[in-house]
Amino acid sequence: MTIKLLLLNGPNLNMLGTREPEIYGAETLEELINSIRDYANGKEIELRDYQSNIEGELVTAIQESRHWADGILINPGAYTHYSIAIRDAISSIDIPVVELHISNVHAREEFRHKSVLSAVCLGVIAGFGRNSYFAAVDALERHLRS
Ligand code: DQA
Repeated sequence: MTIKLLLLNGPNLNMLGTREPEIYGAETLEELINSIRDYANGKEIELRDYQSNIEGELVTAIQESRHWADGILINPGAYTHYSIAIRDAISSIDIPVVELHISNVHAREEFRHKSVLSAVCLGVIAGFGRNSYFAAVDALERHLRS
């Protein structure tokens, strides 16, 4: 059965490729999403994606996904560390959400060690570079198919 996933990317992730490449890599978001979509399609997963620098737009995308998605993968960017609005949006829907990060947030500045979202997510994947996205697809797929 085909699984439908929403891949959400938060603020500044549209800058991948040029933004601090020593931390986030040289690949653009578009290139990364294309390869995640290919990977997902090979696993009978339909992937829709959305990036926004605006908190409320991410909240709306989370709310609307409840009508069609089986689960959400989200790299919330800096909103991870302080967005109660995104946390409440995740709490308000019944589908599972996986929080993911390119970098190992726990090995970075102290303000990145805390996530206000993790407690309302199914799980968290961080620190594997671009592979965090692929690992998140795998983890959510296994969860949904089991
Ligand atoms: C990030 C980590 C966050 O702390 C940061 O604000 C980002 C990207 C990551 O993918 O490693 O924008 O979510």
